Amino acid sequence: MAESVAETASESAAKRLVVLVSGSGTNLQALLDAIAETGPAYGAEVVAVGADRDGIEGLARAERAGLPTFVCRVKDYDSRESWDAALTEAVAAYEPDLVVSAGFMKIVGKEFLARFGGRFVNTHPALLPSFPGAHGVRDALAYGAKVTGCTVHFVDDGVDTGPIIAQGVVEVRDEDDESALHERIKEVERRLLVEVVGRLARNGYRIEGRKVVIQ
Ligand code: GRF
Repeated sequence: MAESVAETASESAAKRLVVLVSGSGTNLQALLDAIAETGPAYGAEVVAVGADRDGIEGLARAERAGLPTFVCRVKDYDSRESWDAALTEAVAAYEPDLVVSAGFMKIVGKEFLARFGGRFVNTHPALLPSFPGAHGVRDALAYGAKVTGCTVHFVDDGVDTGPIIAQGVVEVRDEDDESALHERIKEVERRLLVEVVGRLARNGYRIEGRKVVIQ
């Protein structure tokens, strides 16, 4: 009896994650693998995966893991605002503690941020505030940067401008093209995302201006 009470308590303590994807979903997979390997001690569970498009490997990964999925495509709505409202409702239906944008290639709107601001985490493949936007890897390479990396941050109403939670550094090699560099960044990014989401979930945090303090 005591055992089952303890188990229930630790299970109910797991923070609920909704993960949003647009592509191959290797960051999502890293979270799923960490949760499967670590069990309740990880402190969070993925309760649903959402996307802005069909037919992507990220959704297939979620389905293979037996997770509910949903798709909100901008083109199915008559305005960006109604898409944003629908995405907000779809995510809210799973009552997440944290929403993780793991390669979700859409800027969310006012309603989404009103609901999930301060608990919406994004991972970006560059060292912000350098090289924000959709081509962070290409832009760092074109600029001639010698180091780049990845940034896990909270999302605000700008493009990749929210408070930084953690960063990982990757050296640029002379022979790098965008794809080789992005692959090396993603190796660091997956580890960083898993570490950061786990710490946020287990320890709690507060956002003080631009500073994120994990308790
Ligand atoms: C990541 O590098 C993310 O930062 C960027 O797109 C990539 C997504 O990779 N926005 P995956 O879909 O998790 O494999």
